[in-house]
Amino acid sequence: MPKLLVIFGATGQQGSALIDHVLNTPSLSSEFTLRGTTRNASKPAASALKDRGVEVVEADFNDGRSLAEAVSGAHTVFGMTNFWDEGSVEVEIKQGKAIADASVTAGVTQLIWSSSPNVTEMTNGEHGLAHFDSKAEVEEYIRNLNIRSTFFMPGWFMQNHLSMMPLVKGDDSSYTFRQPWPSTTRIPVIDIRDTGKFLAPVLANPDKYHGKRLTCAAAFYTPIEMAETWSKVLGKNVELQQATEEESFAIPFTEEQKKMIKDASTLMTKYEYYGPTGDDGLAWTLAQLTDRPVTWEKFLNDHRPLFL
Ligand SMILES: NC(=O)c1ccc[n+]([C@@H]2O[C@H](COP(=O)([O-])OP(=O)(O)OC[C@H]3O[C@@H](n4cnc5c(N)ncnc54)[C@H](OP(=O)(O)O)[C@@H]3O)[C@@H](O)[C@H]2O)c1
Repeated sequence: MPKLLVIFGATGQQGSALIDHVLNTPSLSSEFTLRGTTRNASKPAASALKDRGVEVVEADFNDGRSLAEAVSGAHTVFGMTNFWDEGSVEVEIKQGKAIADASVTAGVTQLIWSSSPNVTEMTNGEHGLAHFDSKAEVEEYIRNLNIRSTFFMPGWFMQNHLSMMPLVKGDDSSYTFRQPWPSTTRIPVIDIRDTGKFLAPVLANPDKYHGKRLTCAAAFYTPIEMAETWSKVLGKNVELQQATEEESFAIPFTEEQKKMIKDASTLMTKYEYYGPTGDDGLAWTLAQLTDRPVTWEKFLNDHRPLFL
């Protein structure tokens, strides 16, 4: 009998990517039936899931009863939170713990948690990053629960360059990759559509991956390499420009968010996104995969018309 995989954030980037991968992989789609959650089952993204045979249920991370109903009967749960939805560390921690508690109470076999590096711990307390440390705190909480658990740690989403840090096109048809980091900073980038590629081995073998952290990126790329690849794919010169965080992001920030964005830049430049274990963690994770992750070049080619 197929096992039930419950995916929180099914209408978002990570959740929908996991659903796509399971539906498109015969060995997984015959092993699992899918239930996706949203706060609004009548929104177009939810209807599209229903049309593809996914059971869609309404659940709110802030409502324990709805979480209990969402995970009822589940074999595996993919849990995530969207820090930016409420912008609160306390709320994110509470939501993550509530997903975990509901999963344990329902007797779920495996919980996959979308986590982040524990920045305070890996920098020996020198530096923190609120919305990474909050996810890592939930991870610590889960590690002490009686449930098989695995931790998905996505790198910098390539999709950030379709929205919040887009390629800047000048009036004279010039192109600039404006970003806040020194040109040789190593950025672990992931096409977040690859979420399912990274999680497929975990779905297939909960015991093997119990307690493991997955360092999820295609590779480390520097801003220089990213700009050069952009030039190659577009056939136009893309100039690399280091700017302030405010100039680099195409979204307005509150004062609190500005501090977090600067904290994130310090992490990337001084300690690296995954800290000292980044290279080993990435090599180990990539060695687990059957399907190769999408490269930056492939991602740019897939979205080429959007940049021109
Ligand atoms: N961008 C990056 O480079 C990056 C890197 C590492 C980690 N992250 C983390 O990734 C997370 C965002 O992931 P994403 O991009 O996959 O999300 P997303 O595309 O923004 O979608 C958010 C999902 O979460 C659901 N959701 C939000 N609040 C909810 C609530 N209170 N109750 C129930 N569902 C709720 C939404 O469902 P409905 O709206 O349908 O209810 C939606 O499905 C953030 O926490 C961020 O810190 C991002």
